[in-house]
Amino acid sequence: MKSKDLLLICSEPGFWGQERKPWVSIDLRLFQSELESHGLKPQLTDIQSVALDAAQIEDKCIFYAFSQRIHLRQYIKDLLTFLAQQNTLIPSLELLLSHENKGYAQLYSQRLGLSKPQGWYLTDIEQLKQLKLSYPIVLKSISGTNAKTVWLCHNEAEIRSKLKRMAKSPNSLVKLDYLRRKLFRKNRSYAGYPRFEPRQDAQDWLTYMTPGANFLLQEYIPNLDCDYRVIAVGKRFYLMQRLVNKGDFRASGTKKFVFDITPPEGLLDFAQDVFQRFDAPYLSMDIGHKEGQNYLFEFQAMHFGTAAIVRSQGFWLNETGQWQFQEGASSLESTLALGLAQYLEGRQW
Ligand SMILES: Nc1ncnc2c1ncn2[C@@H]1O[C@H](COP(=O)(O)OP(=O)(O)O)[C@@H](O)[C@H]1O
Ligand SMILES: [Mg+2]
Repeated sequence: MKSKDLLLICSEPGFWGQERKPWVSIDLRLFQSELESHGLKPQLTDIQSVALDAAQIEDKCIFYAFSQRIHLRQYIKDLLTFLAQQNTLIPSLELLLSHENKGYAQLYSQRLGLSKPQGWYLTDIEQLKQLKLSYPIVLKSISGTNAKTVWLCHNEAEIRSKLKRMAKSPNSLVKLDYLRRKLFRKNRSYAGYPRFEPRQDAQDWLTYMTPGANFLLQEYIPNLDCDYRVIAVGKRFYLMQRLVNKGDFRASGTKKFVFDITPPEGLLDFAQDVFQRFDAPYLSMDIGHKEGQNYLFEFQAMHFGTAAIVRSQGFWLNETGQWQFQEGASSLESTLALGLAQYLEGRQW
């Protein structure tokens, strides 16, 4: 790949998340100059400028930033889905669609042969009738973070009540309109639609206007007192352990981090295998480990928390068939630049 073809698309002008928090940009100038030190000559733009000229952008290698801002998520997804037809996306379109979307991520990881824990992306509680589930089971909303919308449910009634909270009831205007339709349209008819029946129609209308919620159910892996955040960047693997609070099963959001642990046997091999199945320069993985088994709870190829990179004393490398810890502090921008350069080097174009 010639470096002149590399286009970097910021999520907002001059903004590339994330550094310490989603609202803090990395140092873009430093990132660019680090890329240049690897022989790359990226052209920097942003999603707003790209949108004005999208049909003209062809045959580029596009490395893009994401955003947690809801309107921007949709905007970035629309534009990059459009650009994917004429250009190469880094990370791949599948990873963009998986981002902040646990449902799509579940579908995609199944295709890649990663189905531990097992999971089901659902839109209606009635779908449970077609499944043979064992309880307790983990329920997740599609786009939550920090375990705020991840629950352990012991039966169908618990799932039902959590879903009720996730999908708001119809608002009062809708309820009022329902009564109007039900009570004041008794003699109404529609020419050409003889099946119209006012009461049934009011009921169907209310059902249609009642918000729903998509959700993910996941096999519960019991008795874990931590999970592992592994961030793969090019050939490097950064590691962080996250402890759960007493009486809880969720490690995400506790902020109880332990860096520079000795990884349990097989964890890094698993992380490497997962990373190689994806098409991205970086991958952040939330992994559970128990009795020699590994479970991929979640992954993100962009816009992930970066503490494991900047707060560890080093990273793991497997260049000789053996994992070795390489000590030394990592600067975020230079690490991300190195990861992108290594990825581009290793790709077949
Ligand atoms: N299937 C599961 N079995 C056991 N624990 C789980 C499971 N899924 C998630 N967890 C725990 O819950 C935490 C939050 O889940 P996760 O899917 O990472 O959601 P979030 O996006 O909110 O971080 C994880 O860090 C892990 O500790
Ligand atoms: Mg998580």
